[in-house]
Amino acid sequence: MSQENKKKKEKNTERKDPEFLKAKERIEKLKKEINYHRYLYHVLDKQEISDAALDSLKHELYLLEQKYPELITPDSPTQRVGGKPLDKFEKVPHRVPMISLEDAFSPEELYQWAERNQKLVPGEKLDYFVEPKVDGFAISLEYEKGIFVRGSTRGDGKIGEDVTQNLKTIESIPLKLEIHQDLPKKIKKRLEEVIEKGHLEVRGEVYMTITAFEKVNEERKKQGLPLYANPRNTAAGSIRQLDPKVAASRELNFLAYDLVTDVGQETHQMEHQITQALGFKTDWGKYCANLEEVIDFWKEMQEKRKRLPYQIDGLVVTINNNRVFEKLGVVGKAPRGAIAFKFPAQEATTIVEDIVVQVGRTGALTPVAILKPVQIGGATISRATLHNEDEIKRLDIRIGDTVIVQRAGDVIPDIVGVLKRMRTGREKKFKMPKKCPVCGSPVKKEEISDKKQRKSVVWYCTNPSCGAIQKRKIDHFVSKKGFDIVGLGPKIVAQLMDVGLINDPADIFFLKEGDLVPLERFAEKSAHNLIEAIEKSKTIPLAKFIFALGIRHIGEETALILEKELLKKVGRIRTIDDFLRAIKSFSFEELSNIPEIGPVIAQSIIEWFNSKQNLALLEKLSKAGIKLQTPQLSFKKQILKDKTFLFTGELSSMTREEAKAKVRELGGHPVSSPSKRTDFVVVGQNPGSKFEKAKKLGLKIIGEKEFLNLIKG
Ligand code: IVH
Repeated sequence: MSQENKKKKEKNTERKDPEFLKAKERIEKLKKEINYHRYLYHVLDKQEISDAALDSLKHELYLLEQKYPELITPDSPTQRVGGKPLDKFEKVPHRVPMISLEDAFSPEELYQWAERNQKLVPGEKLDYFVEPKVDGFAISLEYEKGIFVRGSTRGDGKIGEDVTQNLKTIESIPLKLEIHQDLPKKIKKRLEEVIEKGHLEVRGEVYMTITAFEKVNEERKKQGLPLYANPRNTAAGSIRQLDPKVAASRELNFLAYDLVTDVGQETHQMEHQITQALGFKTDWGKYCANLEEVIDFWKEMQEKRKRLPYQIDGLVVTINNNRVFEKLGVVGKAPRGAIAFKFPAQEATTIVEDIVVQVGRTGALTPVAILKPVQIGGATISRATLHNEDEIKRLDIRIGDTVIVQRAGDVIPDIVGVLKRMRTGREKKFKMPKKCPVCGSPVKKEEISDKKQRKSVVWYCTNPSCGAIQKRKIDHFVSKKGFDIVGLGPKIVAQLMDVGLINDPADIFFLKEGDLVPLERFAEKSAHNLIEAIEKSKTIPLAKFIFALGIRHIGEETALILEKELLKKVGRIRTIDDFLRAIKSFSFEELSNIPEIGPVIAQSIIEWFNSKQNLALLEKLSKAGIKLQTPQLSFKKQILKDKTFLFTGELSSMTREEAKAKVRELGGHPVSSPSKRTDFVVVGQNPGSKFEKAKKLGLKIIGEKEFLNLIKG
């Protein structure tokens, strides 16, 4: 390390800012946890958490190390390959290190990978060869003069274990090399030389088909032996046995993906062709001219993988041109020129940032975990239901814990485990509140049993209408005259409340697509559409916003009047803060003096804005990024100032809404029912009962033409 770098490193590790220290602590915890599971898996052939969960931990570590490269240590799992070789086998040094691959979990990460590469090799055209990432066990096969002489595991990447005898039981591994298929002349010649007198190395994956795996486990069950967790474990376990009879008794396969020996191959695709010609099995690799093709193929295989006889957890994407691949070199434990493009997993690890309590329509209290957002199954998950207090106790989930979150099929994400070794000591235990978080009433517990007669304790708010009132508030909030969120009707609101996704109107703006997809009545498309509609609704005319709040006595018209009065006083309202300031600048007297408002409505407004709960809602809405729109203050002469208009029947030159807007623009007020104070009743085609009423009251009745003349002045 240069003197300068050394100084830089020393300086950086002395950093004391909380974010850095937190990252440092987290990195330490992650390294320990990952090493623990790797040891279990690679050395003891045991597994406590799923591959997806371990991947998720490794990925978090990788991202943190990318952010703070000064915290990368040589002993980090990101810097090392494989596990320790076992003592029971002979050691085999690898001529070329057996390295591993970095992961990409989304198309975005794949694009980032390609971008990084392109910067390192400017001007080079990048095309790709894409193949299955078989969930098996990496093996190197060596041939001397065309004869299989040695097969070894990856071990720590530099030294592996000699498992030749076990590999010899695998039918898909040729014991003698022959050229079975045609190849380009030059390559064929070199290959013939190597087979005759040289050394040749092929690498690939030993794996087990799903059917073979099930057969092994059935057998073990009969014998009362512990079951294997998955085909990969079984394959690994079979190869790392001293007695080759075990391997022979199991249906193992070998899939080749790498030709280490140089016989003049220029592309990775050609390596596949050569290994295949040599009698190795290689499966459905595909040449892709660009990343779009790679991503399309990845999507296609996500579906097709279910019908494959073996498990794959993604695709390996390799830069096809070997010269460019070599030029890109290796970083840490992996080549820059290849990446494992993983399929979305149904499980991931993340942090419980908070536990909140939601109140359903029935008043039932459901604890919900607020998670550090994480990608699972292709969607961002930020919440998981904790069901009830018993569930939290059973799993011992605390705020700040690192947890395993699962999306099994089409259900709401669940926390299935806590990684207790990851605790820092700062985690907080959760206690069910004694009072309802919505209305403040006391809570009571009830024992209920589900369909399977399992008993659990559920807490309820003792105010029977609490959840119901909240539901009505939300319905009003999202209705057409309010936030007008298309696709969020009363049924969906009920559903979202029942599963604990929303509690108050502001919660709507924190929903993520991933929260909705697992719900009944939702598919990816409808979830996407609703989130888009919610996003769009965040910019809202001030009057509609005022209406949506559900302040007593404030309907559509009063909301418009209030909007106008607020604007007259403060001039500009763009945010909820501006709005609050404007409202607070009005005294009760000032509000009551506005003719259309009067003391009753004024009182209701004052009360609403004095409630702590309502102010908290406004703050939450402000955090959600609600933007308020206001009409351009009209410069038109207010020729209809304070005149009231009632419309009945259809107009021919404009809609009734347009007519009302005109009246407002000119300082007048549309009203919805006739009274003695109504100045004009505008009658169009097919007027309704209001017309009769107006006649009885002796009001001034005009037709469309007269109305048009009036607004022309
Ligand atoms: S290429 C130079 N190709 O995945 C990089 N690996 O996470 C060597 N694997 O250690 C690996 N299918 O055990 C490559 N088609 C494939 C693969 C594959 C499965 C495994 C292999 C490797 C690990 C990397």
